[in-house]
Amino acid sequence: MALNIKKKYRVLIELAKRARKNAYAPYSRYPVGAAVMTASGRFFTGANVENASYGLSLCAERVAIFNAVSRGEKALQAVAVAARSARPCGACRQVMMEFSTKDTDLLIVNLDPNKRETITRARVYSMLPGPFDPLASGLLPANPHNLIKRGRAGAKRRRPKRKRNAKAAHRHPSGSRNSPRRRNKKRGS
Ligand code: THU
Repeated sequence: MALNIKKKYRVLIELAKRARKNAYAPYSRYPVGAAVMTASGRFFTGANVENASYGLSLCAERVAIFNAVSRGEKALQAVAVAARSARPCGACRQVMMEFSTKDTDLLIVNLDPNKRETITRARVYSMLPGPFDPLASGLLPANPHNLIKRGRAGAKRRRPKRKRNAKAAHRHPSGSRNSPRRRNKKRGS
């Protein structure tokens, strides 16, 4: 089992371990590396970045996930975290849930220098019982990437066909009058 996991996620695990080298952790001296594999098969990495104002520090997992999302990848196939006795914090688990399906894997790579490296696998969904659900709360009227409804990583959103008329072409998706397009038009750019 352990060997199969390692084989399937060899690259992801290696990237998480490498990312750890870029951690900025002078306060905790606890470097963490993370890597995510998106539904489309791309990889993104992150390391923890601390701050003299401690509360501003960010965990490696969130850095990796935000890295992926800010590059247009919202569906996670797997997340790997590498540290000495690694365990994603609660905040990171909630952030993982936002972009996960029931099948999204979490790989925990334990790098204890005195012990053999171990890799354990779990589903992101099993790591946070009773999560805050953006759909149930009504905060997310329609799941933008249709992940939870379809329960499949990388499921594409089916857009309803829209009639192409002049008015619709200039309407911002939010329906707001203050759409970026409108604002740009006003400025004449
Ligand atoms: N940290 C992570 O990056 N990921 C985790 O899963 C747990 C904790 C970081 C935050 C902080 O920079 C340091 O580890 C010590 O808490």
